[in-house]
Amino acid sequence: MHKVVSDFSKTVIVSEEGIRLASEPEPKVREKYINELDKVLITKGCLDARIKGLAREIANGFAGVDEITCVVVLKGGMFFAADLIRVLDEQSNLRTRLDFIKCSSYGDRSYSSGNVQMCQLDNIEGKNILLIEDIVDTGGTLRVLQNYLKEKRKNFKTCVLLDKGVASGIELDFIGFRIPRVFVGGYGLDYAGMYRGLPEIVVIKKELLK
Ligand code: IMP
Repeated sequence: MHKVVSDFSKTVIVSEEGIRLASEPEPKVREKYINELDKVLITKGCLDARIKGLAREIANGFAGVDEITCVVVLKGGMFFAADLIRVLDEQSNLRTRLDFIKCSSYGDRSYSSGNVQMCQLDNIEGKNILLIEDIVDTGGTLRVLQNYLKEKRKNFKTCVLLDKGVASGIELDFIGFRIPRVFVGGYGLDYAGMYRGLPEIVVIKKELLK
């Protein structure tokens, strides 16, 4: 049974059984993915509610700042960033710019190769930066990105949707959900390129993972 959550004003801790809103029925994996996915971990309703909370935290965190440049880590951060940035523009006084950075170390596996490849983004020298990432596991990817971007920053903060709670030595200013150390997909996140289009966060079956 999924746990019913109602407070989305701060990081939500998600246990193995997963979470849903009181208004949502017990979530089920779609039939077409039934052999690949274990369960829905975080429903779309919970993602939407927490993104509103995150936008408030980010606006407070950048108090006194007029404009921020959101640097989205591709590809996984795309869906999360699209929703977050729209809520920021609707609900806060912050003006937003959008840029992207691409970083890949997983390939078609479920663990990091440790080799982070990065591509260049527009000139961000002297800008207020909000780095937007989908998920933190070991922290290796974010460490490389933070070191690279921090040099050029004026004011630098990092927002992640999901944190598996094992990374050390990196600064996470805004965390959506803290999740168990399982491999997840959906809402932009993939395994070997699949599941990005699912509206919720799902757990991929262990026996499928390389
Ligand atoms: P880290 O470098 O070990 O912290 O891993 C971060 C990157 O690995 C993220 O940007 C994701 O692309 C990918 N990743 C880590 N865990 C997962 C997961 O559970 N599902 C999908 N991608 C993941």
